[in-house]
Amino acid sequence: MIELAQQILHNFNAGPSILPKEVFKDASRSILNFNDSGLSILEIGHRTALFQPVMEEARNLVKELMQLDSDHEVLFLHGGATTQFMQVPMNLLNENELAAYTETGTWANKAIKEAKLFGHVEIAGSSKEDNFTTIPKNLSISPTAAYLHITTNETIAGTQWHNLPYDCGVPIVADMSSDILSRQLDFNKFDIMYAGAQKNMGAAGVNLVVINKNVLGKVNRTLPTILDYRNHIKEESMLNTPPVFAVYVALLTLRWLKNEGGVTAIEKINNAKAKLFYDTLDALPLFIGPVAREDRSKMNAVFVMKDETLEKEFMEWCNREGMVGVKGHRSVGGFRVSMYNALPLESVTALTELMKEFAIKKG
Ligand SMILES: Cc1ncc(COP(=O)(O)O)c(C=O)c1O
Repeated sequence: MIELAQQILHNFNAGPSILPKEVFKDASRSILNFNDSGLSILEIGHRTALFQPVMEEARNLVKELMQLDSDHEVLFLHGGATTQFMQVPMNLLNENELAAYTETGTWANKAIKEAKLFGHVEIAGSSKEDNFTTIPKNLSISPTAAYLHITTNETIAGTQWHNLPYDCGVPIVADMSSDILSRQLDFNKFDIMYAGAQKNMGAAGVNLVVINKNVLGKVNRTLPTILDYRNHIKEESMLNTPPVFAVYVALLTLRWLKNEGGVTAIEKINNAKAKLFYDTLDALPLFIGPVAREDRSKMNAVFVMKDETLEKEFMEWCNREGMVGVKGHRSVGGFRVSMYNALPLESVTALTELMKEFAIKKG
């Protein structure tokens, strides 16, 4: 009998990251004996009667949890969010057209770089001058832009869009990799939403892409079969072999989210976790949060220490208490705590207690 690790850890990893324990249990079982079939999920064909319902239920659960209308199609694709940086402009942007992009940090910049391979890019708003510690407020979008691209949550900078530019006059495309299904948004107002599954939605290896099918079919380039969204829609995400196990883990995570009460319920918990963390941060002068308060991410909170020489010791305290993933991204340093859907409030409580204790000791 295989057992889950007993050691209690607080997993603040930025991605791949914490998933519900129930998901690990069910996923493990499926490797040994999938749905009492006597077969492992790793050895069944994707077009079998065993796997087809997995894909169908996963797609339906996304529709249900996001309350999508019938124009929006749900796909599970390979290649991570990074493939979407290229696939979106390839499918939506003609060479002589322009697309509007917001420049909010590392991930937005990667999307911009790829879009330039297919057409023109205008920067509709940028927080570069603020060192990406804010979200741009007054966007300037050409009415002829093929679409506006935003990164709803910048995983490294620790910023998040709280006022979404819903009525910007052009189709909206959003990279939601690090806050997908963490809060209630008007999902039907987005024309494309994409997210690597490995933060809020499951294991690495699959990408959720939600598309309003009305935005497709407008480019005049010839698209490779595998990169044309219309083919994936037609084949219901079975154009080629899907990442079977990763789709199954996504399904288990979606079922868990539904059981928790869905997006509205998880948003309440996420709000409570973020409030507890940021209230503590603001009350302790030893710690500094560089992000503008109104643009702080509820998923990835970044902070540094007023006295940089204390950072190593604080990190040691975190390690000692079984807190993993607290170190900041290698490009920015300091600390980053990721508070994705599956992270319990208790983990944030444990961290904030540790911060207070550290502040008293060093204060
Ligand atoms: C906001 C955002 N976009 C895109 C990516 C890239 O995702 P992938 O590694 O799945 O290509 C990441 C990865 O962390 C991310 O945080």
